[in-house]
Amino acid sequence: MSRSPIVAIDGPAGAGKSTVTRAFARRLGLIYLDTGAMYRAVTWWVQHLGADPALPEAVAAALAGLDLQISAAAEGAQQVCINGHDVTEAIRSPEVTAQVSAVAAHGCVRDALTAQQQAMGSRGGLVAEGRDIGTAVFPDADLKVFLTATVAERARRRAQDLEARGFAVPSQPVLEAEIAERDHRDATRAVAPLRMADDAVELVTDGMAIEAVIQALVDLFRDRVPHDAWPDPDPQ
Ligand code: CDP
Ligand code: CDP
Repeated sequence: MSRSPIVAIDGPAGAGKSTVTRAFARRLGLIYLDTGAMYRAVTWWVQHLGADPALPEAVAAALAGLDLQISAAAEGAQQVCINGHDVTEAIRSPEVTAQVSAVAAHGCVRDALTAQQQAMGSRGGLVAEGRDIGTAVFPDADLKVFLTATVAERARRRAQDLEARGFAVPSQPVLEAEIAERDHRDATRAVAPLRMADDAVELVTDGMAIEAVIQALVDLFRDRVPHDAWPDPDPQ
């Protein structure tokens, strides 16, 4: 292998990708890339400009004035800045969540963000999570995992997450409907839809504690990625 390893973690909303991938990255000494945060950032910017997220021309015009910076933050987290402003927390709002799949469906958005993600991974040593990492962004990743759970389980997790971030928490049926709708939009769009890569390992995480999922990823990495490709242990 000529570069350091790349790990691709894909899956639907609320599957635990961000939480477990960040911890996995720290444990293995890999750079952590949350690509969903990039689609959220573009959505925040489109809303900030008052552009219509459904109109490709309006979204393309918004993209032209966007400077999106992704950098490492404390405890393995990721900081997101738009034109110099920190939007790391703002992009988690329910308003952004409601429109992000519409913005993410535009080819111009996917082309721009995929190119930025590939540039960030050009030297390897990275674990990226999203919807199309194993299928479109890094199709030659050394390990691909499709992380999932039932809609009911993911809605319960999302409720805890919203509460912890101080947002209003909708009822379980409303959250389940929102998650199912976003899954449907992500899985049926024309460009780079959410789907499991043919060579991915599926991990269904209902009833699994966070630590058990992280350990499962570490075990898969040790099993499937040749030892001489491992990064230096825990340099952070
Ligand atoms: O954390 P959560 O599951 O709510 O979603 P996310 O990972 O922050 O991603 C938000 C949205 O961005 C997804 O619903 C997709 O519409 C889009 N996305 C995408 O299209 N491709 C990616 N690689 C990552 C996210
Ligand atoms: O990134 P994604 O939308 O896939 O999920 P996340 O934001 O990492 O996880 C959503 C919520 O589920 C967080 O509050 C996690 O702490 C929680 N979670 C869990 O309870 N059990 C797991 N096995 C994984 C995540």
